[in-house]
Amino acid sequence: MKGIVLAGGRATRLSPASRATSKQLMHVYDKPLIYYPISTLLHARINEILVISTPEQLPLFEELLGDGSAWGCRFSYAAQPEPNGIAAAFLIGEDFIGDDSVALILGDNIFYGVGLGEQLQRYTEPEGAVVFGLWVPDPERYGVLELDADGTVIAVLEKPVVAPSNYMIPGLYFYDNSVVEVARTTAPSARGEVEISEVNNRYLREGGLQVSKLPFSTEWFDVGTFDALLDAQQWVAGHQRRKGLLVGSPETAAHREGFIDAEQLRFLAAATDHGDDLAKSGYGDHLLRFLEFEAGGE
Ligand code: DAU
Repeated sequence: MKGIVLAGGRATRLSPASRATSKQLMHVYDKPLIYYPISTLLHARINEILVISTPEQLPLFEELLGDGSAWGCRFSYAAQPEPNGIAAAFLIGEDFIGDDSVALILGDNIFYGVGLGEQLQRYTEPEGAVVFGLWVPDPERYGVLELDADGTVIAVLEKPVVAPSNYMIPGLYFYDNSVVEVARTTAPSARGEVEISEVNNRYLREGGLQVSKLPFSTEWFDVGTFDALLDAQQWVAGHQRRKGLLVGSPETAAHREGFIDAEQLRFLAAATDHGDDLAKSGYGDHLLRFLEFEAGGE
């Protein structure tokens, strides 16, 4: 399965902070926001990843992430000139996807949960589509699941005025190869976007939509506003301080999932190609601590 990180858009709700930079490059505590969705894909054991952003900001992502080889990955890049819909990612990424299945993650979504990687790994060869359902108190802000009395999905509603359930669909979706054709033949909505919820409704109508509920304990952030950014920052900082391990680190995720060995993780912790920066910031020590943690049998 291949992976796409969608990291475009104008981030107007973060202006003026987002005027001269991309939201997904802003830091969430100690690392750029885009590190978090990349690490989620790595925990699903997906390491061939296409990063999509605006033509102006794409070079910045390339500078940050490179070709991915340091993390045992293969990264490529594509531009989305206009924010014409989340599902437009499948058309931009058509050549990248080729004949494979594909996971799409939004570049501003942070996921954290014990066992999340194993749950995601179950869906990397999907038939049709797999979306996730998470109980939240404010579902009307997102894509929402409408369920019948047995818990069967009846519809996916995008930001309904009144939500039919508390289960929202976070920005991580798994599809078989047919998604390229489905996206191509989905008409843009009134706001001119190829809507991901409409794509999911089409799979639902053809009996091809599977929903996997995330445990209530899953931490999830959609980092779209100043407060959401601050919430995410504070949660990551507190969690890392208390637990002593990094959240959303592609380096430790890549090691955990077998894409790089311990020697490479040690090399990254001390690498001098960016002037020894990880050693100086303390991030490198965190990477080394992960090796000690694993040596303890975890
Ligand atoms: O975060 C989960 C929610 O994400 C889902 O529950 C909704 O169903 C889904 O529509 C989406 O809702 P948002 O209101 O967060 O969508 P937004 O238009 O803000 O886009 C999400 C991110 O994707 C945003 O950071 C920018 C990026 N994006 C969006 C569009 C429409 C692009 O890069 N290109 C685009 O064309």
